[in-house]
Amino acid sequence: MWTLIGLLLGTVHVAFAAVYLYLTWFHGYWTKRGLVTAKPLTLLGSYPGLFGGGSSFIEDIGKIYNKYKGKQRAVGTFLTRKPQILVLDPQLAHEVLVTKFSDYRDTVTSSYVTHSKDDYDKYVARNPFFSAGDEWKKRRTDGGAGLTPNRLKQAYAIWEQTGEMLVNYMQRCIEERHSNIIETRDLCYRYTAQAMGDFIWGIDAGSLSGSPNETSSFQRFSMNWVSHAFLSMPRFNRTPIAPIVRKLFRMRFFTQESNDFYLKLTRDAAKLRQSGCGGERSDYLAHLMQLQEKGASLDDLVGHALTVLMDGFETSAAVLYHMLYTLGACPEQQEKLRSEILNALAADKHISYEQLNALPYLDQCINESMRMTSVIGFFIKICTRPTTIDLGNDKILKVEPGITVAIPSYQLHHDETYFPQPDEFRPERFDNGAASEFTKRGCLLAFGDGPRICLGMRVGLLNVKMALLRILSEFKVEQTKKLSLSSDSGLGMYLNGDVDLRYTRIKLSK
Ligand code: HEM
Repeated sequence: MWTLIGLLLGTVHVAFAAVYLYLTWFHGYWTKRGLVTAKPLTLLGSYPGLFGGGSSFIEDIGKIYNKYKGKQRAVGTFLTRKPQILVLDPQLAHEVLVTKFSDYRDTVTSSYVTHSKDDYDKYVARNPFFSAGDEWKKRRTDGGAGLTPNRLKQAYAIWEQTGEMLVNYMQRCIEERHSNIIETRDLCYRYTAQAMGDFIWGIDAGSLSGSPNETSSFQRFSMNWVSHAFLSMPRFNRTPIAPIVRKLFRMRFFTQESNDFYLKLTRDAAKLRQSGCGGERSDYLAHLMQLQEKGASLDDLVGHALTVLMDGFETSAAVLYHMLYTLGACPEQQEKLRSEILNALAADKHISYEQLNALPYLDQCINESMRMTSVIGFFIKICTRPTTIDLGNDKILKVEPGITVAIPSYQLHHDETYFPQPDEFRPERFDNGAASEFTKRGCLLAFGDGPRICLGMRVGLLNVKMALLRILSEFKVEQTKKLSLSSDSGLGMYLNGDVDLRYTRIKLSK
């Protein structure tokens, strides 16, 4: 009997020792290579928040960043047992993203859908953000060709019309509800749903024309689609050491229902356009039709359309409502921005595409707002060929292919070394075009940088700028309550709760 118990206990001990060894086997990886290591937890590695450890990924990165910044250019960390490098020096971030891009061509998200790319998650796999190697290059080139300044200039009337619809909707909302407080998260989603439905498929999404108490089916569907996709991100972030789990559980970003919905929408829109309807338009659908003529499949068209919708709808709206919220507590900056806008607007409220893009203070306010609330708060790149990192003090670190490198953009954006009083909204930091200098120094990465810089930056900015132009030229914006910011271990930092802002019509003296 005692022998049996002894044997059992022995087996349990050996099993525990094996698991312990498995989890900690690589924990000496960085020390052996001369890189200072942020001490990992046995089970959860350096980022316990990913596994429900009471914090978020961005907060966990922040703890390590604050402990080692200024002392090291980078530190070694572990995603459970998988070695990762956390960049602390913005110049090194610039090196990874720009000057040594060929050594870090892929992004960690490009490894997320390899198990399902030809099958159930075929549309997300067509997004450059989720693609690697030559496929990434092709998708980026094909998709990006429909987002050039020239194309956006030709499609500019879509944004002018959507901007007009936005302020009319706001006025209706105020009158019908007898209140000038509008929940602004919903407002911004209505606006981006309308603009993107029109630009991508040539449809009227109906999100700004119906009653304020109703949500159009396109907006509702797109909201559910994007929420599912974004909420899936933490699940994928948790599984890099056992990617087999993704296959076993058929993990996916886009549901089958949404795949079917957008496939039908794209097929119908393409058929209508082929029949000559809207043939004069120079929108994204026109670009998709050109791709089809060159041999792109219907699935490719859906993939490109959803790439634009994802950030054209969600990320752009997030940037916009964070910005309106921030301006709502900064009357001085709001007034300065309003003056710039009113001076630029012609009597008929018209402004050209070029003029809109040449308003310096508007750019500064957007850069400052994106610095403060970074809706994408970190990037993780993959080393794709052997390279080195100069750690300083004559130490050179060899980096092997497959090693991931995290760039903590949220922390860089909030580091007082680069941005004194980082929690204050001070667009004047970017006077005289300073934003591009900050980006070159690796400190301001709101759209990333280098060959994988945001593909839709111009569309995102156009969305945000047109809405701000129209709202601020007609309404004064004020906060009604303070909201907290938090991160869900997905990609970025978001405001919590309803973004109730007060909009008061301004009386123009002109
Ligand atoms: C204002 C809104 C937007 C913000 C703040 C934003 C931010 C970013 C950031 C920070 C990255 C770099 C991620 C990384 O390096 O890992 C990125 C990449 C990307 N963005 Fe955006 N984005 C916005 C709008 C858009 C829009 C409208 C599109 C539509 C085409 C888009 C499509 C993409 C794609 C496809 C990538 C991946 C690029 C690649 O890996 O080659 N984004 N975005």
